Amino acid sequence: MAKTWSNRFEQGLNPVIESFNASITFDINLIQEDLDGSKAHVAMLADCGIISTKEAAQIDEALEKIRLEADQGFFQQNLVDEDVHYAVERRLIELIGPVGKKLHTGRSRNDQVGTDLRLWLRRQIDLLDIDLKRFQKALFDQSNSHLYTLIPGYTHLQRAQPVSLAHHLLAYIEMIQRDRERLLDVRKRVNISPLGAAALAGTSVPINPRKTASKLGFSDIYNNSLDAVSDRDFAVEFASASSLIMTHLSRLSEEVILWASEEFSFVQLTDRCATGSSLMPQKKNPDVPELVRGKCGRVFGHLQALLTMIKGLPLAYNKDFQEDKEALFDTVRTVRISLEAMSILLEEGLEFRTSRLSAAVESDFSNATDVADYLVSKGIAFREAYQIVGGVVKRCLDDGILLRDLKIHEWQEINPLIGRDLFDRLSPKQVVASRISEGGTGFSRVKEQLNYWREALAS
Ligand code: ARG
Repeated sequence: MAKTWSNRFEQGLNPVIESFNASITFDINLIQEDLDGSKAHVAMLADCGIISTKEAAQIDEALEKIRLEADQGFFQQNLVDEDVHYAVERRLIELIGPVGKKLHTGRSRNDQVGTDLRLWLRRQIDLLDIDLKRFQKALFDQSNSHLYTLIPGYTHLQRAQPVSLAHHLLAYIEMIQRDRERLLDVRKRVNISPLGAAALAGTSVPINPRKTASKLGFSDIYNNSLDAVSDRDFAVEFASASSLIMTHLSRLSEEVILWASEEFSFVQLTDRCATGSSLMPQKKNPDVPELVRGKCGRVFGHLQALLTMIKGLPLAYNKDFQEDKEALFDTVRTVRISLEAMSILLEEGLEFRTSRLSAAVESDFSNATDVADYLVSKGIAFREAYQIVGGVVKRCLDDGILLRDLKIHEWQEINPLIGRDLFDRLSPKQVVASRISEGGTGFSRVKEQLNYWREALAS
């Protein structure tokens, strides 16, 4: 049965090829946007006098009927339709007969699919922004409860200097803020209408592409019809911004996984988000952050797939582009569910073990820099102070004691400039409190940051 295409075709497709060629199984996901795009197109056709107002009204009404069928799950999709665009047109003609055949005037599936995809992605970006903000709020709430909780700060995963736990978590709020800004920037380029470019060259039908663009809320239209139908940069940019979101989620995931281990024991997973083992009854596993970490692979993969798909394509439209959809759909699905899961994890899935954390920061040499800084305040050059403290640390390690265990006379033998006030500088609380340089972990600075984010996230 030769159906969809023109009379040039005499024979039907091989059934395997028919199914290989079809995108209806996944691009049905775009049906709402396809209907929105068609409604705008048909209204424009009437505005421009290309079809009558009555015809436009008839088509519009039928498109709304199709929307209802889709919403209620009655919309019939089959492989014969090839894709969502044909499926809608087929149903339209079924519903209203020959008038329905006027819908595709001055349009091609090439500009149509670009329009649908951009409308869909624009909406997804807006939803993602809400997800990202919720995640930031969850980070904020944990931060807000832990301004004075200290956690070892690491470099090279070696204890470096203690920090406020709020400060540590607020670092992730910053990353997510950049993610939001990046998406907003991508949105600007998503929000350009390709509708009117037709197959590749524009059309001789006297359409007005600016009308459809404004009806659909696009901020502008294409400048070049060839570029309009063959630009998928926006998909790559989106996949790239999504990859960074996943990267940030994965870094936090990795930390939570470490923190939940017996070795760290910095957090306890609640029963709401942890899972058990089928064999070992004592286990409580951090499946949520592990899955998020694991799901990075597919999002990075989609970015790579999109880049590779585009790189060899001559202008303008090529069927290769059909591959963009599943990549984008899965990217959005993965990023959104990962953000939601990580938000829940922060909201109700983990508790910081403050006693373990304070024991951790009390039992190391992460106040060594503060002794060096103290000597600097007494007029000793930093590099010299650094060497002196290195020697003291070695001696303490040999004796199995900490810096605070040295007696005042022992300190004064090391350097006579040292007074009792050094001991105030050694407590982890003081170590943290003293780091008041802008953006530092000093409590007064972190408080500023908390105030900033409380307001920023309230609006
Ligand atoms: N299903 C197609 C896609 O996703 C729609 C555009 C088809 N255009 C064409 N000339 N075959 O890209």
